[in-house]
Amino acid sequence: MDTATLTAAKEKVEQRGFLDIDLDPTLDLFAEIERLKKEKNAVVLAHYYQEPDIQDVADYIGDSLGLAQQAEKTKADMIVFAGVHFMAETAKILNPTKKVVIPDLKAGCSLSDSCPPPLFKRFKEQHPDHVVVSYINCSAGIKALSDVIVTSSNARVIVDSFPKDQPIIFAPDKNLGAYINKVTGRNMLLWNGACMVHEIFSLEKITKLKMRHPNAKFIAHPECEEPVLRLADYIGSTTGLLKFTQTDPSKEFIVATETGILHQMMKSSPDKTFIPAPPNNSCACNDCPHMKLNSLEKLYLCMEYGTPEITMDEELRLAARKPIDRMLEISAKAGL
Ligand code: 13P
Ligand code: SF4
Repeated sequence: MDTATLTAAKEKVEQRGFLDIDLDPTLDLFAEIERLKKEKNAVVLAHYYQEPDIQDVADYIGDSLGLAQQAEKTKADMIVFAGVHFMAETAKILNPTKKVVIPDLKAGCSLSDSCPPPLFKRFKEQHPDHVVVSYINCSAGIKALSDVIVTSSNARVIVDSFPKDQPIIFAPDKNLGAYINKVTGRNMLLWNGACMVHEIFSLEKITKLKMRHPNAKFIAHPECEEPVLRLADYIGSTTGLLKFTQTDPSKEFIVATETGILHQMMKSSPDKTFIPAPPNNSCACNDCPHMKLNSLEKLYLCMEYGTPEITMDEELRLAARKPIDRMLEISAKAGL
């Protein structure tokens, strides 16, 4: 490609979210990505909701906690984050001197978007006696206003680390917050945010599906609404759900989370059947439109050309780092 074409494509990255360059269709992207990993000392970290091809080229696939832990300890010079923006941003907060790239800069998160920092700042000021516990699915601006960050795999342990009478604000996911209130016996004040994917499941269709598959275990992510969670045999983070399907003797599972996780479930338990929980619309899929903006082509391009890159104001980064460090410390002590 000539320099002028590349410069023009790079200039449009902010606007488009990715490098819009036509690739030679005969290019072996899997081999190219392996070559780039070596050449650039790059590590590919992917969330379970990424498309199967991306999961298959990743050096590490995990839930939000696992990905943050990997980002903290990596020795790579370049972190290629196949996930959504808040995840890549967390990796950058932990690695200010490393290059962090994401296949599509516009891969956002409806849950994170439901909590704008200026509004949340005002809400926090109205409750000065409360500590702020925020789910990692939030922007650096919200992290900077928080005392500690949690993920779905450590939220219970971290909330339990506060004295019982400590008033707590939990943001931004009201469903995870309500679930943690239930299991810890707390009455945390909940921000009214939710994930568009986990709120779409149909209680009626799940009930019928369970009747048609009486031996199937119903497993759900805690971002689901309370009536759905009430039906669940197991509730956990994506890693928790995957491990449950590996260790539980059942042969059939109805899975209430984004469909990307089914790839690893089927890979590790080929003798078992996995049924995605049905959404309340006519579409047969529970795909996260943000996660699915990333593709293998975009992943290759961001590695090859080092853009889109995550950049951040240093003052914001330092403020956002404190509650993440606190999360990582408590999780390590708890053996998570
Ligand atoms: P976990 O993988 O940490 O369970 O989070 C799920 C999710 O919604 C990420 O966006
Ligand atoms: Fe955000 Fe939900 Fe997509 Fe996760 S699945 S990235 S919480 S919108």
